[in-house]
Amino acid sequence: MNILILGSGGREHSLAWAVNQNPKCDILYCAPGNAGISKVAQCVDLNIENSSDVLKFCLDESIQFVIIGPEAPLAMGIADDLRANNILTFGPSASAAKLESSKAFTKGVCDSCNAPTAKYARFTELESAIEYVHEQGAPIVVKADGLAGGKGVIVAMTLDEAINGLKDIFSGAFGKAGAEVVIEEFMEGEEASFFILSDGKNILPIGTAQDHKRVFDGDTGPNTGGMGAYSPAPIMTKDVTSKAISQIIQPTIDEMAKRGIPYQGVLYAGFMIKDGEPKLVEYNVRFGDPECQALMMRLGAQALDAMLACAKGELNNYKLNWADDHALTIVYAAKGYPGTYEKGSNILGLDTISESTNIQVFHAGTKEEENNIIATGGRVLNITARGSSLKEAHRLAYETIEKIQWENGFYRNDIGWRAL
Ligand code: AMP
Ligand code: GLY
Repeated sequence: MNILILGSGGREHSLAWAVNQNPKCDILYCAPGNAGISKVAQCVDLNIENSSDVLKFCLDESIQFVIIGPEAPLAMGIADDLRANNILTFGPSASAAKLESSKAFTKGVCDSCNAPTAKYARFTELESAIEYVHEQGAPIVVKADGLAGGKGVIVAMTLDEAINGLKDIFSGAFGKAGAEVVIEEFMEGEEASFFILSDGKNILPIGTAQDHKRVFDGDTGPNTGGMGAYSPAPIMTKDVTSKAISQIIQPTIDEMAKRGIPYQGVLYAGFMIKDGEPKLVEYNVRFGDPECQALMMRLGAQALDAMLACAKGELNNYKLNWADDHALTIVYAAKGYPGTYEKGSNILGLDTISESTNIQVFHAGTKEEENNIIATGGRVLNITARGSSLKEAHRLAYETIEKIQWENGFYRNDIGWRAL
């Protein structure tokens, strides 16, 4: 079948790499893609937030399956438009994507199905929000309701931070996304991510992971989109995983179906785990980036079969083959990220790396110019390795990243520290 992947990050490169290995895949396209993706797929210059452009391409090129990577096209309803035109699509409808695009919506779903999560209140006015923060005291967490590019959450250690955060949000720092605010109780514990596929009714767990959100070693510095990840996450023990499914995930999927907005696609749950009890921090309606890179390294070609079963509503008949393996990915980012950074520097040494099912360099912000790989983004490469232990994956990934010469880049030296 002809397949189209939407997106251009390390996440989409790892998806393309996995899908391309599956014999069911004939022609693989990716829009817009990047220099690394162009080695495994035909990159197409499409505006992936424009439904009619995407639809026209699918009809012209006889695309039989579309995999949507990022949240923005999902929140805009691209999956709805494709399905309305009988194109099999992996990804939730705009209404179901509210599990990511509205924090207040998700809190409401948790209330309806009694899923453990932080106590909260919703506000549309600054004064009442400030009053609530005074009543509750710090630490406290302030969140813009809508999509804010990962920047709309303020984990406030003091009342001043919380109030300044509220003032920012209500003065329009996040545009429409900040028209409403959710204020949450601060949860203590260790964070982990859990990825499941749902076809609207059935669920299929596809792996756990831990991200590294802070930019510098020792989890210091500002928050980023993620500087590295590994899978599985040891904190997600059998017991925690089974509680997460029975108390949070399955009730959410059931509640969505009950509301007439069944959830189809990958559901990425962020948990806070304390004393063996998981509580929901947030949902995302897409794969995590860079978590996806570690997951795809472990799943390989069967990722396509799983996504197809999901999109067709056939997850009840589908089983994954699990290897007892571990994967770890290190993000190579441009100096200055997540703040301002230069674009256009040259990356050397990539041709000295022999890629295999155990080592892959997934590209994010790159382009190719006259056989040179040029950095064009903040997060640029994802050096990903697989091994029979996390220690082995860690060793391989760091051994590989040292072969790359990129003066303008930096990476964390402690990816995996929590589990190692
Ligand atoms: P979110 O975008 O909702 O995942 O929030 C971003 C990050 O803020 C999370 O990964 C947590 O590290 C932190 N966070 C969010 N909500 C809470 C909470 N209620 N208590 C403690 N930390 C939180
Ligand atoms: N790595 C975090 C995310 O994709 O949201």
